[in-house]
Amino acid sequence: MKFNFDQRIERRKTKSIKWSSEVLKNMFGEEDLLPLWVADMDFLSPPPVREAMMQEVEHGIFGYSIRSEGYYQSVAKWMEKRFDWKIQKDWIIFMPGVVSAVYYVLQGLLEPGDGVIIQEPVYYPFKSAILDTRCRVINNQLIEHDGRYEMDFEDLEEKAGDPRTKLLVLCSPHNPVGRVWSRDELNKVAQICTKNNVVILSDEIHHDLVYKPHRHHVLANLKEEYRENIITATAPSKTFNLAGMMSAHVICENSEMREKLRKVLDKNHIGMQTPLSMAAVEAAYREGEEWLEELLDYLQGNVHLIRETVKRDLPKAKFSPPQATYLAWIDFRDYGIDGKVLEEKMVKEGKIALDGGTWFGEGGDGFLRVNFACPRETVKEALERIAGVLNKEELK
Ligand SMILES: Cc1ncc(COP(=O)(O)O)c(C=O)c1O
Repeated sequence: MKFNFDQRIERRKTKSIKWSSEVLKNMFGEEDLLPLWVADMDFLSPPPVREAMMQEVEHGIFGYSIRSEGYYQSVAKWMEKRFDWKIQKDWIIFMPGVVSAVYYVLQGLLEPGDGVIIQEPVYYPFKSAILDTRCRVINNQLIEHDGRYEMDFEDLEEKAGDPRTKLLVLCSPHNPVGRVWSRDELNKVAQICTKNNVVILSDEIHHDLVYKPHRHHVLANLKEEYRENIITATAPSKTFNLAGMMSAHVICENSEMREKLRKVLDKNHIGMQTPLSMAAVEAAYREGEEWLEELLDYLQGNVHLIRETVKRDLPKAKFSPPQATYLAWIDFRDYGIDGKVLEEKMVKEGKIALDGGTWFGEGGDGFLRVNFACPRETVKEALERIAGVLNKEELK
């Protein structure tokens, strides 16, 4: 291994939200917790990213800045190389984050009261965005069979068929269940939505964190007939640990939708990016691939550790290795503990901060989401703490 992912780097006294005692206290009611919640990684970003930023710092002037041709090329080349997706520069709209992108798309394309489909259990800011923009949440809940999640197409067909339903926020790959949607599944979603004039906002932020033999398919790259109905949101933030750089992209072939989006951004004077983040994004897409491949191997090692430990020390828990993402979605329902109580026990007794299953909406009760993008020793310690809580429970 060229890169050292085992290195434990102190983040407690930094500006990290995940490790901040103030944030932990606010979110969980305790400060001294081992944090495996927020989805960023406890790893250094790739060396070329840090070098590119260092060069900017060396230069030392951080005035108003514009994105260069090279920046756009680096994004386009990455999409073509990794996903065989050929995009044009004018399809790319800068966003200060993927969650921001969801908010702006809803504001730009929808009216208050419009119905928006999500597929719970799912990344909870989707629901907040829908509610904050005064739209209506429509849940097309995923179906779970023995740890494998699938979409409920019959239900989707019905909900998309309601003329008041205007948009689906798709999570592809899916956080927290870790599914990489197959070509067939994606075609079906696109077909149902297009037929019913339901726009799809496809959040593909986890698209690079896919484990072999699975392959991510860009929804907008599947069939010509669906392309104009799809807005893709993506970012280098999960892939290269750049979430704090606040840089994401919406990629959209449909010029009318782009126009609406640009209008909403202009109205809020959004679009400027920092020179440091531009340097980081460009370097990541241009030179980050070797690092990414090693990262994926390391993360697979963590998955193996989780699988073995759950089998040995948490016999009633169920863990299906994710096909993508660095998030383990573990099913503790057979312990028979109420979901909220389970979450509280992890904090109070285990001294560990995890995303509670209940945060993700319907179907999340009794699950915990463990962010395993951290050194293996940290994952080990987290699993010991979880097992400690549940095994104590068993003795009662
Ligand atoms: C599906 C999904 N979308 C968006 C985000 C966050 O994106 P951003 O930080 O760019 O707003 C996350 C972070 O966990 C995520 O899992």
